[in-house]
Amino acid sequence: MALKNLISIDDLSRSEIETLFSEADDIRRFPGEFGNALAGKIVFTLFCQPSTRTRLSFESAAYRLGARVLSVCDMHSTRQGLGESLLDTTRMAGYYSDALVARHADHGVMEQIKDTLDVPLINAGEGLARHPTQTLIDLYTAREHFDTLDGLRVGLVGGLRYSRAVKSLLVGLGQFRDVELHAVDAASEADEGTPLPADLAAAARRPIHLHDSVQAMLGHVDLLYVVRVQREMFSDVALYQRQLEKCRVHRALLAKAPPWLAVMHCLPRTDELDTDVDPTPQNKYFLQAAYGVPLRMAVLRRYMTQPQGGASGSGNGVGARGMMAADALSRRAIDVLSNDELSLAW
Ligand code: NCD
Repeated sequence: MALKNLISIDDLSRSEIETLFSEADDIRRFPGEFGNALAGKIVFTLFCQPSTRTRLSFESAAYRLGARVLSVCDMHSTRQGLGESLLDTTRMAGYYSDALVARHADHGVMEQIKDTLDVPLINAGEGLARHPTQTLIDLYTAREHFDTLDGLRVGLVGGLRYSRAVKSLLVGLGQFRDVELHAVDAASEADEGTPLPADLAAAARRPIHLHDSVQAMLGHVDLLYVVRVQREMFSDVALYQRQLEKCRVHRALLAKAPPWLAVMHCLPRTDELDTDVDPTPQNKYFLQAAYGVPLRMAVLRRYMTQPQGGASGSGNGVGARGMMAADALSRRAIDVLSNDELSLAW
């Protein structure tokens, strides 16, 4: 599998997803075998939006593979305050590293970033629709619990319209057979009473059965995938409380659930998922967060050790897009830089 960038979960076929899962399995089974897989490489993490798990698990994954990490997670520490563009910043990141892991609030920005780079770009969350590595983790966690994703009955809960994790998961689930989709949708006043937006329906590519509350949905699903009821989307506190109430997952509610039910949440959680669920066997969300490391190790290894140039998917091989004179010059500068770096490092 020759892969250049991971921008969207639909850059990956089902068999590529499954290959990454087997690699994550190997990493979990024989972690010692992978400690030098990326020795001598540098991973750059550029987070233009806040993050806890995603950035730290990427960085942990890089270190565990023997790579070193450059990280920008506070844009005030860059020259963007002076008016330097994001794309100039990402171009530099590409010069200084062997892969860029980036998060940004604007939809579509990853396509622009990738054109500034000759190293792989991994999307760590973009806009309101794409979060491919979260989806890999979510699918992997569900597969670990249920053995298969085919035929799974998934219940989505929370501010689905405003969640890139949900939209990306829906696209990912599209690779699997006979998946049933159910949902409890917490819309803010701007969207209350309107049907699920077209981008969500398009991501799902199968019907989504709407329910009025988690309680009403429980008998229909194997997996509860909960996301935040995003307080920041609401100005009407009473509506927020009402939406929260129909979405809240708590221990007493789960007493009525089938024993195999799994509760997942991409985290961070707020009041939609009670801490009294933590000690129950249905809690799969901490495991899900922990799987972030082996999954992201599998992704970094896969994207950073392939032969460059033979790009596929959303590839941007230099040859493919045609290198302009200025780029050719900067490539030569990079070669000099990386040679110098090598002699400094070894
Ligand atoms: C989410 C994100 O940033 O998209 N979290 C994550 O990556 N684990 C969801 C959120 O912020 O609510």
